[in-house]
Amino acid sequence: MKRRSFVKLGLATGALSMVNPLKGTELLEHSFESKASGPIVLSTWIHGLEANRAAWDVLIHGGKALDAVEQGVKVTEADITNRSVGIGGRPDRDGHVTLDACIMDHEGKCGAVGFLEGIKHPISVARAVMEKTQHVMLVGDGAKKFALDYGFETSKTPLPEVKKDWKTWRRENKEVFKKPEINHENHDTIGLIAMDQFGDLSGACTTSGWAYKMHGRIGDSPIIGAGLFVDNEIGACTASGLGEAIIRIAGSHTVVELMRHGFSPLEACKEAVNRIIKKNKDLTNLQCCFLAMDKKGNIGAYSVYAGFNYALKTTDDDRMVDAPFDRNW
Ligand code: GLY
Repeated sequence: MKRRSFVKLGLATGALSMVNPLKGTELLEHSFESKASGPIVLSTWIHGLEANRAAWDVLIHGGKALDAVEQGVKVTEADITNRSVGIGGRPDRDGHVTLDACIMDHEGKCGAVGFLEGIKHPISVARAVMEKTQHVMLVGDGAKKFALDYGFETSKTPLPEVKKDWKTWRRENKEVFKKPEINHENHDTIGLIAMDQFGDLSGACTTSGWAYKMHGRIGDSPIIGAGLFVDNEIGACTASGLGEAIIRIAGSHTVVELMRHGFSPLEACKEAVNRIIKKNKDLTNLQCCFLAMDKKGNIGAYSVYAGFNYALKTTDDDRMVDAPFDRNW
């Protein structure tokens, strides 16, 4: 199971030159290529380091990418200090912590849950939706009932300290709607994509969503094609940031389709960001980030604003990588 990952050299391609070219140095710093067969795990933000290690543990024991991505993001979901994923997450405006998650495998099978309250591991419920039902997505009370019927662990939310913050926020924010802070606590969603020793791809994405969102709001993270998409012939992509903008361009599916048409992962992520920039006149606080891998193990990421980073785990690597971006704050 030996593999090498290294900085890719001389990558300028036709597709790249058609799309707002990146500087050569950016390419060198932000494109990676796998030269031997073997596992790769990628995930969004600093919490991805621990998640990747759990996923890696599955993969080095010969496990499948699907099991790896689930086990990986479960680490983040269980971390009660994390304010943007899982049971430690911030609530909506009305004080409810509502969780969104989805999972997709190498056969194109997928499952999702949205607006789910009081369940410790939404990602595992999403997997159960995929494996035990004829549906792709369950939300709200129906998702909760399904989770309870299958014996998934419950958890009381919001946590006391999170509730205290929310009460302060309520006092200070009387207006109907407030834009989110971007890169809040320097992370949000965890999206994790993995390639196993068989060369198969899977992905998982899970979040508590936009802090103090409207009650009932669901973001991109549980939407297959927005927060996550896997096509085992081509590659996989996951997204983070302001879900509404990502949904509007079917972000992760767009990235994978661009890769199908010859874009590298980096070029495809950059083009998806370009579309978001073109479609949104007001880019204030509109951070969106994409992270992708193709079937050959090439990796790329891109974000609207500076600050997005991702965790990379291979045989040789276990580290954070800063993604290139369109603009500074
Ligand atoms: N990307 C997470 C959300 O918008 O909820």
